[in-house]
Amino acid sequence: MSEYKEECRCCERSSEDQAKYDQIAQVIDTYRDKEGCLIMVLHAAQQIYGYLPLELQRFIADQLGLPLSEVYGVVSFYSFFSTTERGAHTLRVCLGTACYVRGGKKLVEALEEKLQVKVGGTTADKRFTFEIARCIGACGLAPALMIDDDVFKQVSPAKLDGLLAQY
Ligand code: FES
Repeated sequence: MSEYKEECRCCERSSEDQAKYDQIAQVIDTYRDKEGCLIMVLHAAQQIYGYLPLELQRFIADQLGLPLSEVYGVVSFYSFFSTTERGAHTLRVCLGTACYVRGGKKLVEALEEKLQVKVGGTTADKRFTFEIARCIGACGLAPALMIDDDVFKQVSPAKLDGLLAQY
């Protein structure tokens, strides 16, 4: 009687993923043993992979000889690291005091409606990740929002379609 053995394939990577992991491994080799190595590697890994899922954190921990808890601790501490897949663009509506009192909340409601996603989420087409900011330095021309590194001032719900269409 032949023995039936099924190998676990849950951790297999697609060739596209494998190429990204290989690139991340090169980054790890570059920064290994340098001061602040983990943060630099995580930044690069997020740029390459788009976000930092647990499997990738485990890979980085193994490669650097660190406990996964240390890597996870850093990822969860800094808000610029994301453990979920992000959209191609990051849209942040400012809800600092000036923006809040001049209509920032209305922008949030309008965007939730237009994008069909709640704050913190990513649109179904992966075009936008929608977040809140706390003052982006444009208080005099509130309400303001950012799309990636671009700042838009005195934004009204009526202007949103035009802004979104640029991305
Ligand atoms: S409060 Fe929105 S830019 Fe300062």
